[in-house]
Amino acid sequence: MAKISFLGHACFMIEAAGHTVIIDPFLNGNPQATMKPEDVTVEAVLLTHGHADHFGDTVAIAKKNSALVVANHELAIFAQNEGVENIHPMHIGGQYDFPFGTVKLTPAQHGSAYIRENGEIVYTGMPCGIILTMNGKRIYHAGDTGLFSDMKLIGDRNPLDLAIVPIGDNFTMGIADAVEAVKLLHPKMVIPMHYNSWPPIEANADSFVDRVEKECGVTCVKVNPGESIEI
Ligand code: NI
Ligand code: MN
Repeated sequence: MAKISFLGHACFMIEAAGHTVIIDPFLNGNPQATMKPEDVTVEAVLLTHGHADHFGDTVAIAKKNSALVVANHELAIFAQNEGVENIHPMHIGGQYDFPFGTVKLTPAQHGSAYIRENGEIVYTGMPCGIILTMNGKRIYHAGDTGLFSDMKLIGDRNPLDLAIVPIGDNFTMGIADAVEAVKLLHPKMVIPMHYNSWPPIEANADSFVDRVEKECGVTCVKVNPGESIEI
């Protein structure tokens, strides 16, 4: 069993077998956030890419918890440069077994940079998706991405208990493409993310849920920020 909590936007906390990790911990400044970074207790922070709405409160959370930051090589080094002590750099296609579970990075079709308040752009490597296996449950967090046909390879080679996919359009897949992504990934269950945080990414999650269940025959659950499900 694994417990998946949605903390708003693209941030998920995953607990299984006594281990807890967080993905893309953007809480301060996240209009959907239901938790403060200082209340987060985790052993690892997993990052899909360097955009501020994903990197978020990584440094504060990692420092407070002495947590390991797992990310693509450039982003992991960026986190280290920002003051994170424990990093584990990986890259696309690579998999590694951690005490909390197994992480594999996948491609994602997107940008990846940390943009400072003064406009300086710091390159943070290629954007990624994350396949996280904890306590026998395999979860795919797609990160920010458009639809790409290699999602079929991801689903075929890594049978997924859960796929978490963006539906907000503008910066990522919208609903129509996300339905196609579910067909390629063929997971047991789907959760939509990365929508309704701001006006450009407004999306009707109920319509996505209907379409996934009707067109893909896959269970789809709209998890509201602050809510959890168990798989
Ligand atoms: Ni992004
Ligand atoms: Mn984003």
